[in-house]
Amino acid sequence: MTHAPGADRPDELARAVALLREGRSVAFPTETVYGLGADARSAEAVRAVFRLKNRPPANPLIVHVADDAMARTVVAEWPARAQILADRFWPGPLTIVLRAAPGVPREVTGGGDTVALRCPDHPVALALLRAFGGPLVGPSANPSGSLSPTCARHVRDAFEDREVMVLDGGACRVGIESTVVSLAHDPARVLRAGAIGADELADALGETLDSDADAADRAEGSALASPGRLASHYAPDAPATLLGREELARELERAGDSLVVLAHEGVDAPAREGVALLVMPVDAHQYAHRLYAALHEADELSPERILIELPTARGPLWDAIRDRLRRACAPRG
Ligand code: TXA
Ligand code: MG
Repeated sequence: MTHAPGADRPDELARAVALLREGRSVAFPTETVYGLGADARSAEAVRAVFRLKNRPPANPLIVHVADDAMARTVVAEWPARAQILADRFWPGPLTIVLRAAPGVPREVTGGGDTVALRCPDHPVALALLRAFGGPLVGPSANPSGSLSPTCARHVRDAFEDREVMVLDGGACRVGIESTVVSLAHDPARVLRAGAIGADELADALGETLDSDADAADRAEGSALASPGRLASHYAPDAPATLLGREELARELERAGDSLVVLAHEGVDAPAREGVALLVMPVDAHQYAHRLYAALHEADELSPERILIELPTARGPLWDAIRDRLRRACAPRG
């Protein structure tokens, strides 16, 4: 595995572009999580990403673009609503699903007729896209189903035994994956909650959105054709349980096994060996920024279980955080 200390170094960027042109995968930072980049126009390069991630072939990939001009090269049509969202939220943590152009490899779309597009708000990602001069697929740079990476080390650890170049852009600012909104549905539908909430999208579009929390599951379920394994995602190695504060306190009193606890301040972990407490921020942005790093840290301690306090604060970012926590704690298929 090669490590690039930063894409402010033009030679690193040139090396990354040369690898991408050969059909290789290059991990790159975005403001949400690290992506595993490959030439979106090459079916072969995209297949290599699926192999690296061990990703089910029917689960489509997000295509990253430098701007809306590049986005138009990938879609069958670029509706006015797409322009509105791109103007308002790009570059940023919003993925827009549209009808795919006929030339988009079916590996990218998972065999469907739509494509997901995102312009990331990160200087290294944008520099890479511009230097490459074309769209890049960018699933999160982790083995399918496991925790998303929010720093270069997470990526290097996950693909330790593989030759994957990692452009190091530091810790990801947002920390959870982008909001996915489908304009292929009418009304528009939120398929994955993220930092940009359904209300903001509705406000921009001037329409009420379908933001049924189960829509994403259903969409992914139909794509994956194996609904049993869907709920579990973004999961740490150790079994994780989501608990209310009082339940958590009771569990901590009686538990005898080794535990890592993720909780807001004020939870008292018993002072015995084998219990580690990771105090989680009360600010939603800081919590999201910290979430995957905390879960990676928890795994590194190899506990028998991870216990997570369910945050109760309201707001779209908290909803997105709870979505990730529920998946991290869902029964494994
Ligand atoms: O923040 C992000 O979106 C990160 C960074 C790297 O950009 N990428 C990311 O990619 O999270 P990935 O592959 O881990 O998640 C993509 C999600 C999946 O839930 C997938 O099913 C959905 O987007 N998706 C991709 N293409 C789609 C399509 N055509 N229709 C519906 N959902 C789609
Ligand atoms: Mg992912």
